[in-house]
Amino acid sequence: MEMPNLGMGTFRLEGEEAYNSVKMALDEGFRHIDTAQMYGNEAEVGKAIADSGVAREELYVTTKVNMKNFEQKDFLPSVKVSLEKLKLDYVDMLLIHWPSPANGDNMDVYLGELMKAKENGLTKSIGVSNFTIGLLEKAQTILPTGVLANNQVEVHPYLQNNKLRSYCNQVGIHVTAYMPFAVGKVLKDETLKAIAEKHEVSAAQVVIAWAQQQGITVIPSSTKRENLQDNFAGANLSLESKDMAKIAELERGGRQVDPDFAPEWD
Ligand SMILES: NC(=O)c1ccc[n+]([C@@H]2O[C@H](COP(=O)([O-])OP(=O)(O)OC[C@H]3O[C@@H](n4cnc5c(N)ncnc54)[C@H](OP(=O)(O)O)[C@@H]3O)[C@@H](O)[C@H]2O)c1
Repeated sequence: MEMPNLGMGTFRLEGEEAYNSVKMALDEGFRHIDTAQMYGNEAEVGKAIADSGVAREELYVTTKVNMKNFEQKDFLPSVKVSLEKLKLDYVDMLLIHWPSPANGDNMDVYLGELMKAKENGLTKSIGVSNFTIGLLEKAQTILPTGVLANNQVEVHPYLQNNKLRSYCNQVGIHVTAYMPFAVGKVLKDETLKAIAEKHEVSAAQVVIAWAQQQGITVIPSSTKRENLQDNFAGANLSLESKDMAKIAELERGGRQVDPDFAPEWD
């Protein structure tokens, strides 16, 4: 199954809020859920999936291996724990959450284990997150050709990540845009609001359509049914090329996620 171009993110969602949000998203038609070991909500995500009644083969589930599990002895056992929590036999996409150490020194160890997770049927596809061009080049020399299927990185109108995205396009690595609303900041943007008004939709829908029209998957998170419905409807919007050009001009290097363990960004 190819990665659906819209998913629901679950960062910051914990306990009952995580369960309720994922359950609502599945009720509203979302079929792609993004979680991570680091989010501490895989069990709630798994329960919501199980209670939703949606058939496994209709679902696309991504999780990410925490860098504290990158040693050989920890990696595969941690993926098995994730699967138990998610109540799944496999995930659709297993990602390396962050390159760690940031210069990629032990990449051969954790990418070797990632590959084993795929070979052992624990995941259908494998990918990475927060990888720069240099780190992706290195990863591709370690993994068999064409296996690296996804790079999940921050992309929104204020941080469009064009150089990295164009590299990923060239080498056939699908891009997933995380934090597509910059946690709500871009939804207040006057240009986006004007485009939204013209199409009689929300700014959130404009951002989703902007990403999807460029072949990127978007994974906004929401805890509210009306916002989940709004985001789901974004897939139906078609933006004109002049709208796309105006949004291209909003780039301002507005990175939201830059922890001290982050790599040197492109
Ligand atoms: N790989 C990584 O390192 C990494 C890093 C960060 C994030 N991520 C992934 O990316 C996902 C998305 O990022 P994010 O959750 O941080 O931020 P985001 O999706 O950019 O923004 C989420 C915020 O937008 C609001 N929102 C959602 N839909 C809305 C709508 N239609 N209208 C108005 N407001 C709306 C939500 O509020 P309500 O809850 O009130 O709707 C929430 O406050 C994460 O959940 C996670 O899965 C990955």
